[in-house]
Amino acid sequence: MSEIKFLKETSSGGNYMRTYLVTGGAGFIGSNYIHYMFRKYGDEIRIINVDCLTYAGNLENLKDVENRENYTFVKADICDKEAIEKIFAENDIDRVVHFAAESHVDRSIRNPEVFVQTNVLGTLVMLNAAKNAWENEDGTYKEDKKFLHVSTDEVYGSLEEGDTYFYETTPLDPHSPYSASKASSDMLVKAYMDTYKFPANITNCSNNYGPYQFPEKLIPLMINNALQGKNLPVYGDGKNVRDWLYVDDHAKAIDMVQEQGKLGERYNIGGHNEKQNIEIIEIILETLLEILPENDERRANIGKQLITYVEDRKGHDRRYAIAPDKIKADIGWYPETMFKDGIKLTIRWFLENEEWMKNVTSGDYQKYYQEMYK
Ligand code: NAD
Ligand code: DAU
Repeated sequence: MSEIKFLKETSSGGNYMRTYLVTGGAGFIGSNYIHYMFRKYGDEIRIINVDCLTYAGNLENLKDVENRENYTFVKADICDKEAIEKIFAENDIDRVVHFAAESHVDRSIRNPEVFVQTNVLGTLVMLNAAKNAWENEDGTYKEDKKFLHVSTDEVYGSLEEGDTYFYETTPLDPHSPYSASKASSDMLVKAYMDTYKFPANITNCSNNYGPYQFPEKLIPLMINNALQGKNLPVYGDGKNVRDWLYVDDHAKAIDMVQEQGKLGERYNIGGHNEKQNIEIIEIILETLLEILPENDERRANIGKQLITYVEDRKGHDRRYAIAPDKIKADIGWYPETMFKDGIKLTIRWFLENEEWMKNVTSGDYQKYYQEMYK
């Protein structure tokens, strides 16, 4: 059983509109979501963040909320049934927002096991704990209880240039161990909705970027390497396409789906912002040169000469592209942040938080980088 550490006692009193159980809140999207929710709802809501702090979880991401009365951090593994049940027993949870997962495709290719453990079995633990806490004796559920499963567009597989988009009706066709584990977890949530009428939604989002993203992922890795004058490793021909969405837009979509969506439905979330990887890298180089002060010595090394084509990712999906038509029509959500603005915000954030980058790239990251890019 994993250790449960309450950094601050959960206040069981308090008149909150809703209590949220957020899993994986110390990661990239989870921490941005928590910031977004406190900006939007302030003291009206309470958030309990459950995270076991893998290499990707970082409490520094949340240091400006950690003293709030209405925020509690619990260090626990979502696979630990007893720990998760205890949280439900001690708190009247109204919303679950389930982010916790192993999230990096390259790591899943090298070590699939932990992906099945956390993403599939961990999701099952979360579903059972919520169902047991929320279900009445007659099989109905306590009023206004909702579970949101945060998933990915990768479950739909890969598109070719000229194909249309991923729709909610596109059959699941995952290729990597990561996307297979996420598709499995989507199917489990669907099974709970279909079999037990469990009150849930699934969201499938495209590639996110923004503050606090771990530099194993394309955008922060390229920003960090360029600033250090290191090679920019491009897989294959660099023409794989991803559909990039600024992370705050994702956070907003999750909240809107949970409050305005129809229970039992799946919603695609995407930026309508398809770009080849090589285009992204060129934009990062240009934006760095635009933002860095003229007297910054790092400017001298930043340029296209850093671009290095390396061996392709195994089973590399060619193109992802989301049709966010349903979420727009039914809920009114649309991507608000233009890529040219979002990438500036992101690069500025990394320039203003160089200590954060130093901290996350010391230690284990060096070993990961050497092995991955040797
Ligand atoms: P991340 O890797 O940055 O964060 C994952 C968080 O989950 C970390 O804080 C980690 O400590 C925690 N965690 C991992 N295993 C855990 C366990 N067993 N118990 C408790 N906590 C655990 O990931 P992210 O990029 O923020 O992604 C969050 C979610 O959103 C994932 O479910 C991912 O599949 C999904 N998603 C990500 C993207 C993207 O572009 N990053 C896009 C669509 C969907
Ligand atoms: O589409 C949503 C998914 O986006 C999420 O579900 C995943 O959690 C998230 O990691 C992301 O997956 P990708 O594999 O698309 O993201 P990544 O940043 O790893 O890679 C983006 C593209 O850039 C991909 O085509 C591989 C390429 N790439 C990546 C790295 C890290 C490179 O060319 N070089 C690199 O060093």
